[in-house]
Amino acid sequence: MTESDLDVVTTARLTVRPPREADRARFVELFCSDEFMVFYPAVLTEPEANDRFDHMVAICQTVPFGKQPVVERSSGDIVGYTGVDYIDLEGETWLEWGYRLVPERRGLGYATEASQALLAKADRTQELLAIIAPDNLPSQKVCLKLGFTFWKQAPVYGDVRNLYKRA
Ligand SMILES: CC(C)(COP(=O)(O)OP(=O)(O)OC[C@H]1O[C@@H](n2cnc3c(N)ncnc32)[C@H](O)[C@@H]1OP(=O)(O)O)[C@@H](O)C(=O)NCCC(=O)NCCS
Repeated sequence: MTESDLDVVTTARLTVRPPREADRARFVELFCSDEFMVFYPAVLTEPEANDRFDHMVAICQTVPFGKQPVVERSSGDIVGYTGVDYIDLEGETWLEWGYRLVPERRGLGYATEASQALLAKADRTQELLAIIAPDNLPSQKVCLKLGFTFWKQAPVYGDVRNLYKRA
């Protein structure tokens, strides 16, 4: 599938668009960075980061609101990602919404702005899940602003997580 203008979502400060091969080096750098991957079980090795980028491209070829780059319009820089991936949890396959920004662009409301814009592409009949570490307050605030509601606390791959749903 090739990118068309329809795939690109533009907000006041950001562009959210499917990943391109030219984004690979930036995402490999980010996926291998401790600071970017905070609240993730582990930073990725370079081969894992390349696989993760390939996976991001593959998901975006079938899901219009798959995890994809968030580009800051003023600088042209990729400053993070937002969107869904699949996750198997409690015997079901879910669409799990996630977002992540570079440290120097946190606290500006970018995650909410980018996610709200991309969420407009999601089918409202499709239930979305968010999985957040209980001590990750900024992420929980963002997810509430996006219309998710607290569901329950449950172990996810061995760690206690707060689960939120958006229907
Ligand atoms: C989580 C994250 C995406 C939030 O994005 P953001 O654009 O920085 O979010 P916002 O600027 O809207 O800030 C979110 C809220 O958290 C608050 N906040 C920021 N830092 C905080 C802190 N240390 N403690 C409590 N609240 C905090 C902000 O004031 C804001 O509150 P508001 O909603 O009342 O205005 C971003 O911080 C990030 O990339 N974190 C690291 C990766 C991560 O945790 N991803 C999510 C994994 S589930």
